[in-house]
Amino acid sequence: MRQKSSYSNKIFLLVLFFLIAGTIHSQPQKVCVASKAMVVSAEELATKVGVQILKKGGNAIDAAVAVGFALAVTYPTAGNIGGGGFLVAHLGDGRNISIDFRETAPKKSFRNMYLDSSGNFVQEKSLLGGLAVGVPGTVAGLILALEKYGSMSLTQVIQPAINLAEYGFPLSVSNAKMFNENRKYFQKFESSSKLFVKENEFKEGDIFYQKDLAKTLNNIQELGIKGFYEGEVAQKLVKCINQNGGIFQLEDLTAYKAIERDIIKGNFLDYEIISMPPPSSGGIALVQILNMMELIHEKNPNLDELEYYHSLIEVLKLVYAERAAHLGDPDFIDIPTEKLISKMYAKYQSNRITNQATPSKEIQSKLKDFFESEETTHYSVLDEFGNAVSVTYTLNSGFGSKLIAEGTGVLLNNEMDDFSAKPGVPNQFGLVGSEANSIEPHKRMLSSMTPTIVLKENKPYLIVGTPGGSTIITVVAQVILNKLLLKEDIETSVFKPRVHHQWLPDQIDIETDSISEELSSKLVERGHKIGRKRLLGLVEAILIEDGKIIGVSDKRGSGHAEGY
Ligand code: DON
Repeated sequence: MRQKSSYSNKIFLLVLFFLIAGTIHSQPQKVCVASKAMVVSAEELATKVGVQILKKGGNAIDAAVAVGFALAVTYPTAGNIGGGGFLVAHLGDGRNISIDFRETAPKKSFRNMYLDSSGNFVQEKSLLGGLAVGVPGTVAGLILALEKYGSMSLTQVIQPAINLAEYGFPLSVSNAKMFNENRKYFQKFESSSKLFVKENEFKEGDIFYQKDLAKTLNNIQELGIKGFYEGEVAQKLVKCINQNGGIFQLEDLTAYKAIERDIIKGNFLDYEIISMPPPSSGGIALVQILNMMELIHEKNPNLDELEYYHSLIEVLKLVYAERAAHLGDPDFIDIPTEKLISKMYAKYQSNRITNQATPSKEIQSKLKDFFESEETTHYSVLDEFGNAVSVTYTLNSGFGSKLIAEGTGVLLNNEMDDFSAKPGVPNQFGLVGSEANSIEPHKRMLSSMTPTIVLKENKPYLIVGTPGGSTIITVVAQVILNKLLLKEDIETSVFKPRVHHQWLPDQIDIETDSISEELSSKLVERGHKIGRKRLLGLVEAILIEDGKIIGVSDKRGSGHAEGY
């Protein structure tokens, strides 16, 4: 890692900001080929912030932290400092690391907090307003990453975000659209209305200023973690959350810690997969899917389209059933990680797959029998020093709880909905859970976020991740399978239409053109049900192959790839 530089020149960074703002493309760049470094994120200005940090000599961690703060300003639907997420990195010296900055349940939370007097789940409470908010982790996570693995100062990496908030930026079509679409929710909260509701609708090119957010970011720049988790900002967060139905205390914020965790490692064909451990279900589930698909491919390397999709769907059902049964916060429950990701268990599980679809109600976790006798945004960064960073972070729903903490500009998450509020009752993503993911004070809610890096000969080969709630795991798995197993090029691997199954509900969700009418009828003949037609994922990926770096931003979104 490079040494921390004492360089701190706000004037330079201000000039840099205007340079960046002056070079916005009218259309974001979906594919970019470069030779040294690359950033792919869901928003063009944030991508450019990352590229400028890299060009200034920063490493991929510096750039990732800068992009994280910038997205909080330029992509408020999911970019955040009021939410949480996960960072996975492969460092130039060969180490693989992960940082968990997932939100926690506030201390006063309790198991049945979202049930009414008749015991029914009242989902509006876990989605909207103060009671939906988990203790935010992003600021602690980004600062931990920077202090431990970055080379620049917090002043340097946060300044572009401050400038974007203070001096404003022109709204893209998609930002304007998202703001307008959420108007009715923002109107519920005075603090949110001030920023997101005006007389007329927002339109492309409007300059969007966030003065309060600039002040909060300045506070963080001056005081570090304490600038958010203690003092004036913390007090304002607690006050506003509680005025809007929440149960926060100052100590929830002061007690928050981002945690460095051992990454989940798997092998797939000749590649090594490194991904996020619990409290995300992503890494474990991804490795399980790849393990089983590898075995199925070994048995029959020439699977036709019908067999491929049939097997994949059956594998997904098995994996999501395990997720519901076993995964949650590892600081609260024991997770049989090694067993779940073992090749042996994959063999046993894949042997349960027959020619016919197994109804989901007949699928339960078999781990016990066998051994006794688990709106968001993703970004990927690669630097020229061999460091690769994969970050997925979120407010949960688009604009989270829709609540801005008065005076701070901080949009707060609604991550509490990721807990299993009542066993067997689905959350907003249709996911059901068990005791493993029940609500407890300070516990982290189970996630599906799957920031992943594929290594080849211990060097970064593919950096990948996506938003999409419960579909994140299946989307990341399909991009990897498309590239490594089906040998598609990286654009096709990302752009190709996808399918999704999550055990319950027992249905295959599809995208337009993901499966032909003919294939669809054949799958139905085998007992599958075709469910919703919807968009699956917004992948931001980087491939490093044959001396070239290819950044690909999903054509499904408005993201931007840029490198040099
Ligand atoms: O952690 C999770 O799994 C969810 N909170 C992610 C939410 C998400 O991806 C929404 N975006 N489309």
